Amino acid sequence: MDKEKGMEPVQQCHCGASVLRYMLLEHGNSHMSSNNSRPLMTVVLAAGKGTRMSSSITKVLHLLRGKPLILHAVGQARSVSSAGIIVVLGHQAERVRSLLTAVDPGLEFVLQEPQLGTGHAMMQCIGRLEGFPGDVLVLSGDVPMLTRNTIERLLRAHLETKAVLSVLTSYPPDPVGYGRIIRDRAGFPSAIREQKDLLHGEDEILEINTGIYVFNAAFLTRELPLLSNNNAQVEYYLTDLVEAAYREDKPVGIFSLDDPLEALGINTHPELATMEAAMRQTTLKKLMESGVRMIDPSTTYVDDTVTMEGEVTLYPMVCIYGATSVETGTVIHPGSVITDSKIGKNVVIHPHSVISEAIIEDDANVGPFARLRPEARIGRNAKIGNFVEVKKSSIGEGSKVSHLTYIGDSTIGSNANVGAGSVTCNYDGFSKHHTIIEDGVFVGSGTMMVAPVTLGKNSMVAAGSTITKDVPADALALGRSRQENKDGWTIAWRRKIAESKSDKKENS
Ligand code: UD1
Ligand code: MG
Repeated sequence: MDKEKGMEPVQQCHCGASVLRYMLLEHGNSHMSSNNSRPLMTVVLAAGKGTRMSSSITKVLHLLRGKPLILHAVGQARSVSSAGIIVVLGHQAERVRSLLTAVDPGLEFVLQEPQLGTGHAMMQCIGRLEGFPGDVLVLSGDVPMLTRNTIERLLRAHLETKAVLSVLTSYPPDPVGYGRIIRDRAGFPSAIREQKDLLHGEDEILEINTGIYVFNAAFLTRELPLLSNNNAQVEYYLTDLVEAAYREDKPVGIFSLDDPLEALGINTHPELATMEAAMRQTTLKKLMESGVRMIDPSTTYVDDTVTMEGEVTLYPMVCIYGATSVETGTVIHPGSVITDSKIGKNVVIHPHSVISEAIIEDDANVGPFARLRPEARIGRNAKIGNFVEVKKSSIGEGSKVSHLTYIGDSTIGSNANVGAGSVTCNYDGFSKHHTIIEDGVFVGSGTMMVAPVTLGKNSMVAAGSTITKDVPADALALGRSRQENKDGWTIAWRRKIAESKSDKKENS
């Protein structure tokens, strides 16, 4: 068949021709950039249940790198769409919708009920797409690793070749389960055939459909109602539009990815775990390239939302999550878990410290086995030692809370020292109360500070005190019962015990 095709066919040796296309597109030209102004609407398909996850939670709500799969896809859509994003909802529609509206109020939704295939999902959008003078990008709610760069290259290729439909393809190590790209004798794409519908010999085809496409909106809205469900799964396949275009002699574009992982759809838990590991290593590699030292990247867990500046050192089994930032010179020792916290320069976090929503200023020392809870603020050069818990409290510059202590709802000034086993008794069973420990205060070991209470500047508290009244500046507070020693008392006591034991023996 002699067809007028804008895009050159990519042969089944996926490295050669596709790389060439990348190169051609990379250098671009004025024709392409003028075409780039064509409006783009994006549809994210997210109605399917994801049966192979064997889960009560719909597939697109499963977490990858701490973020539901659907948010990865919506992020991709946001990065390129100029004319709106439609999300097709179906299974657990309300849960998905409420998550998405909270994160991105600008999204539009259509409901697909029941779910009769990807073509049927797109049919639900016809009302919204009819008359749209641009292109429609179709993304899949379960393809999280796709980059903006790849989508832009697909879009540019689509525009350049004036295709009515362009398909992103790849060559995964195992193509079983995917729709395969069928080509005519001349190498032009003529159909996509699903695994269950493959004809004799077609299972040897290695090039697969990633489920990512760009359509000319007019072609899409005209052809969708003509789809049939005459296939092995009795579903309306969006992929049948390739054959429709081919029959009408319209150009179909194929854009092939070099890295099949990038467009991998998640269908099972093992796939989710594989992708989690791959994405994690990408994040860690970027951090290491920027100067972060990791003793063992295979056991280091850092979300991509974390920022690190300069020469941070991470020991094995460190987990850093959420909106955490870490500055240069800081060393984080094994087993520490840090979430949504701000960590300054040259901080040392000793092993097994758990830190959430806290601020640690430069040169501070924390742990081992420290627990910093929300609104803990550890000042410059301060020290929080082992088995110390700090909640909603600020510890001033150079102050030390070194062992076995609870500091809650407190303000500690600079250069104070809180001895081992001290507790701010902040809760009376109804409300929380504040403790103030001013600059230079020395709190002896085993002190109970019953809040609300203030320990004035440079005051001292004798070890073992229970402090219920404010302590004036420079005073010594003794809040314990006076000790009495009874000389020789234990000698008499031991004699008495020994006598009673020998009486028992004689009587038995
Ligand atoms: C689809 C493609 C296949 C491709 C593969 C890539 C079709 C017919 N097949 O197959 O060629 O190789 O993706 O991963 O398109 N969805 C709906 N409504 C439905 C069905 C699915 O919204 O009625 C959504 C799903 O939520 C998912 C996406 O469409 O986000 C793909 O659906 P899925 O069932 O995973 O399709 P595959 O069988 O993997
Ligand atoms: Mg799939």
